[in-house]
Amino acid sequence: MPRIKPALLFFENEQASAERLADAANLNLARIERHRFPDGEIKLKLPDKLPDRVVVLRSLHQPNEKLIELLLTCQTARQLGAKHLLLVAPYLAYMRQDMAFISGEAISQQIIGEFMAQLVDAIITVDPHLHRVKSLQQAIPVAQALAISAAPLLSDVIAERRTNPLLIGPDEESLQWVSQAASRHHFEFSVCRKIRLGDHSVHIELPPISVARHHVVLVDDVASTGQTLASTAQLLLGAGAKSVAVAVTHALFAQDAIQKIQRAGVQDIWSTDSIPHASNVIYLAASLAEAIAKIYGEL
Ligand code: R5P
Repeated sequence: MPRIKPALLFFENEQASAERLADAANLNLARIERHRFPDGEIKLKLPDKLPDRVVVLRSLHQPNEKLIELLLTCQTARQLGAKHLLLVAPYLAYMRQDMAFISGEAISQQIIGEFMAQLVDAIITVDPHLHRVKSLQQAIPVAQALAISAAPLLSDVIAERRTNPLLIGPDEESLQWVSQAASRHHFEFSVCRKIRLGDHSVHIELPPISVARHHVVLVDDVASTGQTLASTAQLLLGAGAKSVAVAVTHALFAQDAIQKIQRAGVQDIWSTDSIPHASNVIYLAASLAEAIAKIYGEL
C-alpha cells in the first residue's frame, strides 16, 4: 500500500515558500486559517483530518506570537490524527541567548528549545545561531533534529555575481559559514573581530590582510539591525576595497537596517528566503526537501 502523502501545514503569510516546499518535497498543502479577536487573541482552524505525517512550516522571525500559534497548531494537529510532527523552521528564534551572561538572565535557547521539543518529533532549520552548544539536538532535545547550511547556496550566488571575490566574515563566529562558502568555489576569505557594545553598536577590527582593490562579499548567518554589516563595510571601503556586497542566510533586517547598510556603501544585498524579504535571491525549498526526505527515511 502506498503511504499517504504527508501534509504541509502553513500560514497565509508563508504561502509562497509553502508552495515551493510542497512542490519540492511532494507534500499536500494544508493552510491554517487564522482569526484575530478584537482583544488580540487568535483562533486557528486546521483541516478536519490530517495524515500520520505532518510537516509544519513556520519561520520564527518575530517569534513571540508565532510560538503561541505553534503550540495551538501542534496540539490540534495531534488531535486531528498527526502521529509524527516535523517542524520546518528555516529561521529559528531565541538561539542567541544560550547562557546567562549576568546572573538572573533567562537562558532563552534552553527554555524555548525545550518548549519546541515538547511539541514536535523532529525539527529542520537552517544555519541556527549555535555557538556554545555543539548540536541542534542539544538546543532542541527532539528525537530528530537537522540543521542544514545555506553557505553553499550563498557561495553559488556569489560565484554567479562576482569574479574572484574576497569573502569576509564580520566576526569570529561567522568563520563556520564563510569558510564553507569560500571552499566551495575556492574563494579567498578571512574574518574580522567584533566586540558588541550594545544592541545598535559594535566595534569591528578588520583582519590583517590587504583588502585594497578587492571586490569583497560580507558573509554572515543573520543581519538584524544591520550595524555589524554597515560598520564592517565602512571599514573595508575605507581600507580600499573596490566594492562591498552582502550575502546572508537570514534577512531579519529590523527597522532601517537596509538603509543603514546601503548608506555604508554596500552595493548589493543577497539573502535566502528563510525570511521573506526583498533581498531574497536564494530559495531553500530543494535543500529543505532533501532534509525532509532524510528525516522520513529514518522513521
Ligand atoms: C552575531 O553573532 C551574528 O552572526 C550577526 O553578526 C548579528 O546578529 C548581526 O546583528 P546586527 O545586524 O544587529 O549587527
